[in-house]
Amino acid sequence: LAALSQAGAGTIPAGAPVAAAGESLKLTILVASQTGNAAGVAKQLKAKADEQGVAADVVSMGDFKPNKLKNEKLLAIVASTHGEGEPPDDAEELHSFLVSKKAPKLNDAQYTVLSLGDSSYEFYCQTGKDFDERLGKLGAQAFVPRVDCDVDYDEAAATWIEDVVAKAKELTASSAAPTVAGTAAVSAPAESQYNKKNPFNASLLTNQKITGRDSIKDIRHIEIDLEGSDLQYQAGDALGVWFENDAALVDELLTLVKLEGNAELRAALINEYELTLSYPGFIKGLAEVTGNAELKAMAEDATQLRDYIADRQIIDIVRDYPLELTAEQLTGALRKMAPRLYSIASSQAEVDEEVHLTVGVVSYDAHGKPHMGGASGFLAERLEDGGQVKVFVEPNNNFRLPANPETPIIMVGPGTGVAPFRSFMQQRDADGIEGNSWMFFGNPHFTQDFLYQVEWQGYLKSGALERMDVAFSRDQEQKVYVQHRLLEQGKDVYAWLERGAHFYVCGDANQMAKDVHEALQTIVQEHGGKSEEEAQQYLTELRKAKRYQRDVY
Ligand code: 2AM
Repeated sequence: LAALSQAGAGTIPAGAPVAAAGESLKLTILVASQTGNAAGVAKQLKAKADEQGVAADVVSMGDFKPNKLKNEKLLAIVASTHGEGEPPDDAEELHSFLVSKKAPKLNDAQYTVLSLGDSSYEFYCQTGKDFDERLGKLGAQAFVPRVDCDVDYDEAAATWIEDVVAKAKELTASSAAPTVAGTAAVSAPAESQYNKKNPFNASLLTNQKITGRDSIKDIRHIEIDLEGSDLQYQAGDALGVWFENDAALVDELLTLVKLEGNAELRAALINEYELTLSYPGFIKGLAEVTGNAELKAMAEDATQLRDYIADRQIIDIVRDYPLELTAEQLTGALRKMAPRLYSIASSQAEVDEEVHLTVGVVSYDAHGKPHMGGASGFLAERLEDGGQVKVFVEPNNNFRLPANPETPIIMVGPGTGVAPFRSFMQQRDADGIEGNSWMFFGNPHFTQDFLYQVEWQGYLKSGALERMDVAFSRDQEQKVYVQHRLLEQGKDVYAWLERGAHFYVCGDANQMAKDVHEALQTIVQEHGGKSEEEAQQYLTELRKAKRYQRDVY
């Protein structure tokens, strides 16, 4: 349904000339990937192009010089979107170049865009849409219309790849470029027997609440057994978790749509469909199959639709509109389940064949009923000790410890954002790296919410951790956050950066990561004696050098 939409600046007629006679034409696959999904699609496109004899190169946007854009005649862009419509780090430079005055006219260029995104977010596939719009405005022509893919992107991406290669083959045929195998500038996730499609059936070892009895938060330390899986992960990676929906919730849903007693459907809803998020596609799908006038009106009003689904799970919508459905109508409107990615909180150097997570349990009352998050509810409440959970490792090459053990690191991880830094410290400790590490942690209350307090104190005592600053936001009248601590320590933070430190941020993307970025900018301005523009440039360079890395959600 809404999982796949097509748009784009007008497709040009087939067979239009794209290269002067004798000039060889090559498909440049420009990829911007944060977690590796886009890189995976780019790799598939390259393989298909090779197979069809279409000359193609995969280039990571981070390695692409924007002023070389004018030389490109045939471009396939694969880009993902994060948080509030933000481009991956790698894409930032090209993304801003395209709206700047420096952007060249691209009248004789052709392009296509595949955007990866998540339709439960407001700025769905924004990065891909931006590229499409900007290239179009600069005069380039879409040779295949843009395709926006939802979390369950495999099929849509495969179709786009087919179309792109077929069209590129036509376009390049006349220019007859020799096929030179290009170098794929993207690192692929390590091949292993277990992966997203074939997850490992792991068992739960530990589920421990690590916030206090009086905490406003319920955060769990989860340990999972990977024994026998041969799964390997590095500090910075995420664990993909396939969860089961709450059977009681599924039963209520089935009763409301008059499908109770359908055991096969019940099992599918528990294991395969997304019930604890909401997405516009569900309303649109329901409107279509039922013809319900109210739903139809809502489906056509994007603002009303957003407002309505904002704080509702699928069950809330069905409670509001208990329409009689067939199994096909229901599953046709629902989105396929996507696994949840949790930043791994352990290092294999320390925990061997285990993997640890720090899970914030999503639980709240709304519309007069209790609600729980899908994966967090499963891990924290429904999965029993020794129970099975399907997992896989999702590598994150954009969140890595420095290659050089002497490079200092600054870690900013409030709330569950602490997770990868526990992994970092375990790894460094195992590697015998001392000092040169600085942790910023924040949470509401010292007595209730100091996650892994004993471990941090241990690292401070042993010298593995050089410094730690904490911000317990609600322990005093005025809110104190990690960015305030950064600003207080601005002089030293800048000195560490000048010494080559890597700066890491993990946690909330909506507010925290933005505020921390602003604080960093202020620090560079003040302590580096730089103008606003120079400070911005400084941070852009840090990002490009992979010295400023974020894992935010
Ligand atoms: P608060 O809930 O008391 O406002 C982890 O969630 C910690 O991050 C909490 O202490 C929370 O504070 C804090 N926090 C909330 N908004 C933040 C922001 N914009 N920047 C940094 N920390 C924030």
